[in-house]
Amino acid sequence: MAKPYFITTSIPYVNDKPHIGHALEYVQTDVLARYQRLLGNDVFFQTGTDEHGQKNWQTAKKRGLIVTEFVKANSELFLRLCRDLDISFDRFIRTEDDDHKRVSQWLWNQSLENGDLYEKEYQGYYCVGCESFKMPADLENGRCPEHTSQELELIKDKNWFFRLSKYRQELTDKINAGELKIYPAHRAKETLNFLEKAEDVSVSRSKEKLPWGILVPNDSEQVMYVWFDALTNYLTGARIDPKKNPVEKSDFKRWPADLHVVGKDIYRFHTVIWQAMLLSAGFPLAKAVLIHGFINLGGQKMSKSEGRIVDPRDYLNKYGADALRYYLLRYIPVTEDGDFSDELFGRAYNSDLANDLGNLVQRTLTLIKNNQINISGFQKPLVSPPDWYQEKMQAFDFAGILINIWQIVTEANVLINKEKPWELVKTDPKKAKIVLGTVYKFILDIAYLLSPFLPATAAKINNQLESLEPKGIFPRI
Ligand code: MSP
Repeated sequence: MAKPYFITTSIPYVNDKPHIGHALEYVQTDVLARYQRLLGNDVFFQTGTDEHGQKNWQTAKKRGLIVTEFVKANSELFLRLCRDLDISFDRFIRTEDDDHKRVSQWLWNQSLENGDLYEKEYQGYYCVGCESFKMPADLENGRCPEHTSQELELIKDKNWFFRLSKYRQELTDKINAGELKIYPAHRAKETLNFLEKAEDVSVSRSKEKLPWGILVPNDSEQVMYVWFDALTNYLTGARIDPKKNPVEKSDFKRWPADLHVVGKDIYRFHTVIWQAMLLSAGFPLAKAVLIHGFINLGGQKMSKSEGRIVDPRDYLNKYGADALRYYLLRYIPVTEDGDFSDELFGRAYNSDLANDLGNLVQRTLTLIKNNQINISGFQKPLVSPPDWYQEKMQAFDFAGILINIWQIVTEANVLINKEKPWELVKTDPKKAKIVLGTVYKFILDIAYLLSPFLPATAAKINNQLESLEPKGIFPRI
């Protein structure tokens, strides 16, 4: 029976165009979504954009643009990147969507009714880069270590607060009991440490200071804190009928999410604040959160202001979606930081994709076609992924799977070089058929195993295997 599987990426801010870090998260999540479909599960994959908050607002103002138009235009850049990267999402949510505003206000009211929201005068240092208040212990030389080029803002405001501290014990117990799984394991430990001292959090801003956000339903002077609204996107997507109004608890049929994929800078929002919000509203926790590392440049964090940033479009335009997907999945470790290297990209393209895989398909099919080899008997496709593949997928070891697939590619190339089927067709046609048939079956398996990783390439290979019309898959660059 097809099991429902609800998977999400985080939703990026739209103050700028997407960079390679966003592409990484899309691609990693897409592999998992496609893998679940390969297993026969009923996948719902949600991604989208986070359009409220100070960062988006300030950038629009600085550029003299109308904020609604600015966020819409930039959201479209993210949507386009998803499409061009072949991301198989089912919903691209915008936090400006009407149904999302409705669900956010509904969730707010659930917490309010449960006594978890209260008003308080507050003063603190705010990092616009993180869209979050910082405690003195979070700072390095008086600045946020994640956004060293930005001054912190001293904010004095009367805000609504969420009683996060109330859920410390319950959430700790649930994480310990495995109700929420956190990958990799060391992030679970860090979450539990953080939970020991988790304080209540401000979840609104006065409209006078920030007139851009979802209105607080019970206070016309305040808008929701951007993270309260953004995290709620996952519940918005869990509703089967987005248009239905009013919102009811029984609408959220896709909840709980099976997996949230997020970067290491925002994991606490997902493993702590979001889960406490869910408890407050009487929902089960998400089943799991996967925390990926960062993609750096020359060993340093990417920085637009310092001109150290990679635009995925440069690589998409030159090499195509699957080449970019391959690089990100094969050479950036999922749960650690990795480096983007233009040189390694070029080498991976020419060697792994064009030479090893592209040539294998091209020369095998050319030999089969030109010599009219009958490959019947070798056309039995795999019907499910082998155990090694499933184990590595469960460990999010994408590079490990690709390395194993390339071992099959190498084995097939070695077999061709050793047996020389172009000679065998003249001297021993029976053996030529066995050799080429064996390689044909290798290629069939390779296409199947590659399909969550390089979907367009897998489809091209399958078409060519069927038509026996070889066409280059990765043109030499
Ligand atoms: N808007 C919030 C997320 C809200 S989710 C309810 C946000 N946006 S972001 O644009 O700053 O980041 C979006 C995602 O991109 C995050 O998961 C973040 O970790 C990831 N990355 C940002 N820079 C990255 C790299 N350099 N490398 C890999 N991922 C990175 O946070």
